[in-house]
Amino acid sequence: MSKKINFIAGFMIFSLMLNSYVWAQQTNTSFTPGKIWKDDKGVHINAHGGGIVEHKGVYYWFGEHKIEGENGNTAQVGVHCYSSKDLYNWKDEGIALPVSEDLTSDIAKGCILERPKVVYNKKTKKFVMWFHLELLGKGYAAARSGVAVADRPTGPYTFIKSYRPNPGKMPFYAEGTADKDKVNCETPANKSDGFFYRDLPGGQMARDMTVFVDDDGKAYHIFSSEENFTLHLAELTPDYLGHTGRFIRIYVGQQTEAPALFKKNGVYYMVGSGCTGWAPNPARWFKASSIWGPWTYMGNPCQGEGAKLTYGGQSTHVLPVPGKKGEFIFMADKWEPKNAIDGRYLWLPIRFENDKITINWLDQWDLSVFKK
Ligand code: DGJ
Repeated sequence: MSKKINFIAGFMIFSLMLNSYVWAQQTNTSFTPGKIWKDDKGVHINAHGGGIVEHKGVYYWFGEHKIEGENGNTAQVGVHCYSSKDLYNWKDEGIALPVSEDLTSDIAKGCILERPKVVYNKKTKKFVMWFHLELLGKGYAAARSGVAVADRPTGPYTFIKSYRPNPGKMPFYAEGTADKDKVNCETPANKSDGFFYRDLPGGQMARDMTVFVDDDGKAYHIFSSEENFTLHLAELTPDYLGHTGRFIRIYVGQQTEAPALFKKNGVYYMVGSGCTGWAPNPARWFKASSIWGPWTYMGNPCQGEGAKLTYGGQSTHVLPVPGKKGEFIFMADKWEPKNAIDGRYLWLPIRFENDKITINWLDQWDLSVFKK
């Protein structure tokens, strides 16, 4: 009898090993938005609200590691990193920035740590990670930015600090900025001006965010501020570890979240979303001929069935396509707030029609859609 049990157990272990071996041999050759995306271990990729940085021909995808259930909407593990050379097949590189077991830490286990974005600083040769941070047990009240740094893309990242950006600083106004977009602290013209003024001494609120590095090596932090009513685009210091105090406000009072920036032929583009919690809403895009604006609201880039709700997703990053200059991939999250770990990834090609961008749903696609 026990021999028989041993045989069955042995057979099961062998099958399991064979399964993972077979998986390791499988190669993805396309993107399947909304489906399970397995990593090199056969596990659904766990990098939500993420972004991708390229370094020496390798792509590193960083995102929120979520666990099962609603508790997964808080940071129980940290920021997960994956690497890939072709964007279809991803190797699990582990947790790049773990949350802390020290409950007095800003990044204590159970805090809210969202939308991590990593950029490489060519001058300091460091990888810098910025993220939206909410302190443990304080809901979404803290509205801080956190920053961490590493010598290698995969980390480990060392947490440096978290704070609200640009205390005591007034916005910079590019030529052509409409008066209605200028903050009036004396007599706030709208709710957003009021929140700006309220937060002037302690620093501006910073929630959904991204980081963009321009061709000249300057980096910018773009975040939902003023109780999510208005976006700020703020210059980072040359080491990318702090804010210089120079910033603009974008689309004042219109509640833009989930910003993702990119640049093509000298023109700046930004895709974002409205503000409806985990539920999807129409995407929105903006255009500017200077990083300092003015940024023009251009409407919803999505087309076809599902376009009104961004096909169930929310923007997180726009990725330049490897080897195809001027082509970009729109990356979005399909959140599953009741079982956070089951969130899905919607990646779709961005098309340019004259000076307009459009996004269309595809069940399955690969990089050959980009002709060049
Ligand atoms: C929408 C944001 O885009 C997400 O990152 C997250 O903060 C949720 N809201 C929380 O409801």
